[in-house]
Amino acid sequence: MNSFEIKNLSFGYEDGLILDDISFTVEKGDYIGIIGANGTGKSTLIKLMLGLLQTKKGIITRAETNIGYVPQVGLSVKGDFPATVKEVVMLDLFGSIGLLRRPKKTHYDMVEKALATVGMEEYKNKLIGKLSGGQQQRVLIAKSLVNNPDMLILDEPISGIDTENEKNLYQLLHQLNKEKGLTIIMITHSLQNVKKDMNKIYEIKDKKIKLLSTEQNQPEERIEDEYVVSV
Ligand SMILES: Nc1ncnc2c1ncn2[C@@H]1O[C@H](COP(=O)(O)OP(=O)(O)OP(=O)(O)O)[C@@H](O)[C@H]1O
Ligand SMILES: [Mg+2]
Repeated sequence: MNSFEIKNLSFGYEDGLILDDISFTVEKGDYIGIIGANGTGKSTLIKLMLGLLQTKKGIITRAETNIGYVPQVGLSVKGDFPATVKEVVMLDLFGSIGLLRRPKKTHYDMVEKALATVGMEEYKNKLIGKLSGGQQQRVLIAKSLVNNPDMLILDEPISGIDTENEKNLYQLLHQLNKEKGLTIIMITHSLQNVKKDMNKIYEIKDKKIKLLSTEQNQPEERIEDEYVVSV
């Protein structure tokens, strides 16, 4: 069964359409990149896929129940917001902890493991608002991983992240995709360091979605021609 089937989806917020009759499939184990200019509807599309926005026309069939999501607008928590890094990640586990119950050691272990995968375990007891933007972004990625999801959707996850941690993130995602078969969709404006890991790249343009050629099925020169890469 596929992770997602999108059939004849159209959507607009108020007047006019942002996405016009688009169809595509996400297969289990896919690592998909989505590119496109600002305002073309990339974030809108994944919000529709996650059920955060209601479709108006078309069908979205979703097989995955456990999806980790890294939204585009980071945490942007400032100053003395009264929660530690550990607590912010723990929030995503409340479904398995149960309402009004205390986290157990296994939950703390899951939180620490998720923080370790993004190199943030030493910050676990710090207040979230005292971290830098890039550090908060890494905590956001840990939040998306803490539930051991079957699928990850990341909306421009590297904004604010330095080169070294960008490399680490790509390596982690590549590993999760290859070794655990995690299905990944990543919206990005910068493909050059990550396209080699992806098996499909879509561009959203003029209200349509188009599958671009990838390294797996096209010679290198064609790719450079077709990609719209903004650095
Ligand atoms: N909640 C909203 N209400 C009305 N219009 C919206 C809303 N959210 C987004 N839009 C509009 O829909 C269009 C698509 O927005 P969206 O956020 O999906 O673009 P995007 O491709 O993710 O852009 P970016 O690369 O800047 O993140 C834009 O013109 C935007 O102004
Ligand atoms: Mg966006």
